[in-house]
Amino acid sequence: MPGLSLPFEERYWPFFKYREACKRSRQDPEAFWGEEAGKLEWFKKWDRVLEWEPPYARWFKGGELNASYLCVDQHLTGWRRSKVAIYWEGEPGDTRLLSYSLLYREVNRVASVLKKLGVEKGDRVALYLPMVPELPIFMLACARIGAIHTVIFSGFSAQSLADRMNDTGAKVLVTADGGFRRGKAIPLKEIADKAVDLARTVEKVVVMKRTQQPVSMKPGRDFWLDDLLKTAETLVVPEHVEATHPLFILYTSGTTGKPKGIMHSTGGYMVFNHSVYQWAFDIKEDSVYWCTADVGWVTGHSSIVYAPLAYGAALVMYEGAPDYPEVDRWWEIVEKYGVTIFYTSPTAIRMFMKFGEQWLKKHDLTTLKVLGSVGEPINPEAWLWYYHNVGNQRCPIIDTWWQTETGSLMIAPAAGLDMPPLKPGSATFPLPGIDADVVDEQGQPARPEERGYLVIKKPWPGMLMGIYGDPQRYQTAYWDRFKGMFFTGDYAVKDREGYFWILGRSDEVIKVAGHRLGTAEIEDAVISHHAVAESAVVGKPDPIKGEVVIIFAILKADRVPTTALKGELAEHIRTAIGPLATPEQVYFVSKLPKTRSGKIMRRVLKAIAMGVAVGDLSTLEDAASVDEVKKAYEELKKEV
Ligand code: PRX
Repeated sequence: MPGLSLPFEERYWPFFKYREACKRSRQDPEAFWGEEAGKLEWFKKWDRVLEWEPPYARWFKGGELNASYLCVDQHLTGWRRSKVAIYWEGEPGDTRLLSYSLLYREVNRVASVLKKLGVEKGDRVALYLPMVPELPIFMLACARIGAIHTVIFSGFSAQSLADRMNDTGAKVLVTADGGFRRGKAIPLKEIADKAVDLARTVEKVVVMKRTQQPVSMKPGRDFWLDDLLKTAETLVVPEHVEATHPLFILYTSGTTGKPKGIMHSTGGYMVFNHSVYQWAFDIKEDSVYWCTADVGWVTGHSSIVYAPLAYGAALVMYEGAPDYPEVDRWWEIVEKYGVTIFYTSPTAIRMFMKFGEQWLKKHDLTTLKVLGSVGEPINPEAWLWYYHNVGNQRCPIIDTWWQTETGSLMIAPAAGLDMPPLKPGSATFPLPGIDADVVDEQGQPARPEERGYLVIKKPWPGMLMGIYGDPQRYQTAYWDRFKGMFFTGDYAVKDREGYFWILGRSDEVIKVAGHRLGTAEIEDAVISHHAVAESAVVGKPDPIKGEVVIIFAILKADRVPTTALKGELAEHIRTAIGPLATPEQVYFVSKLPKTRSGKIMRRVLKAIAMGVAVGDLSTLEDAASVDEVKKAYEELKKEV
């Protein structure tokens, strides 16, 4: 039949905006992205759209711009100057509202503070803050002066904070006396002090007041933000930075113990975010955009700060726990601020499913137009619940697949162009300009319905610039697995209609409540405990959090396995990494199942943790024989 060999979107869609954009991007990617870049204000136009020297892509080389100018200054010339930029709600119920002109004033003053502290273009500034307006303000202030921010999630431990500051060589750390979470004041300054003791390069620490709890201040090193602001100037001219100047470094977990410092450029990142948020969410200046992630993750960078502000939209930012003081806190916030676009994680949706629909019924959610999901695969049941109960069957579910490395959304329904027919659990199709595919072990396109690896075949403007200080790892982590393709680390399938279904990680990365953790990173923390000789960490499927951390540990010969020691070990991991890595279960074993080549048989450990049989042994990824796996399973089962 004519037309049947065409991709799905070309056969069935009555609309053609998405199709057109995809076609143009395929025919002439540089012209396509050049046109997208032209939608932003540049101080100087680029000489070349793309310089591609694999594995390095330099986008818009020769161009000059400033991310803070795009997010703030450009809105001051028209009516947007007096519209809301940030609706902020603290956990205790206090609120703050910043118009674009107020945001402009604060960003300038903070940029002046940084300059007076000696921060210059290219310097790294670490931000370890709770979810308060100062976090986006400091990010934008760094961007204003060309400093590179590195935000460290405020749930990370002193050691994790120190490691990241040492890796970036941060000169200044910005933190707070504390932040509120579930009614408690988290002692951020205390944690920061321990970290600064371990940090080699941090010269100055700026402290903002949030909880008013007493903290110790080291004279000459620590400064109250309020004091510094007293002498701050109100105008700092935005630096004209090159498109390839790094905007930020953000750490994420990989397959080794050391987190990767993912580096993003100013030009490519801003252009890409500007385009995809319109395509996927149809974001506009009158949108009230609420992304519930923490700014400490990439979702927060793009969806709380840079994309909504570049559009002149209003963003909602909430400091605390979703179910505090009651489980309808989020719905109360949606109603109060008239949220139009709501973006959250499958873990959160599953948690609210458990609480029941009655909590939603108490609130008027009719302002909602679009609902988004990110961070982990969304199961059809949660998708449907979200669609029926939060969106009242009026709002599309925009399931967005992307990564810290990709800078922004890659595979998602293009609701801002033409909405494709949705399938619960599928992120649908790649956005225009994104050449994504599913390939087999050899890098050949997988057959429809065949599980393979998700790859990106062409560079895109949001692509990471590299791993900070580690070009070799950049090459091996992303470019060595399949020649000429960016390896995402995810399993995926395409169905017969070309829809993408993301199946989770194919590597040793686990996702706990959508947060990315490397098993090697946790294993390193476990063996740093004095009682442990060896350890293996696996992710166990969990109905709410997607996955939870399970630890298998071999104790040193003279140590006795006790319940108290299990608790001690869990606490040790919390201190080493942060509460998000807290294990769900710790098993003490006398040996770990390994292949002859010494590789841990993770599927055996997973089966044990899940309390199921070891399962289908027809594809033995771990290169062990069927008998070996069975034997290892039986032996270990006796032990735990
Ligand atoms: O496994 C994929 C999963 O999250 C990973 C990226 O994690 P991170 O860098 O922390 O960024 C998360 C937020 C952008 C991916 O490799 N992931 C992200 N979004 C989805 C997803 N898995 C399935 N469906 C998604 N929509």
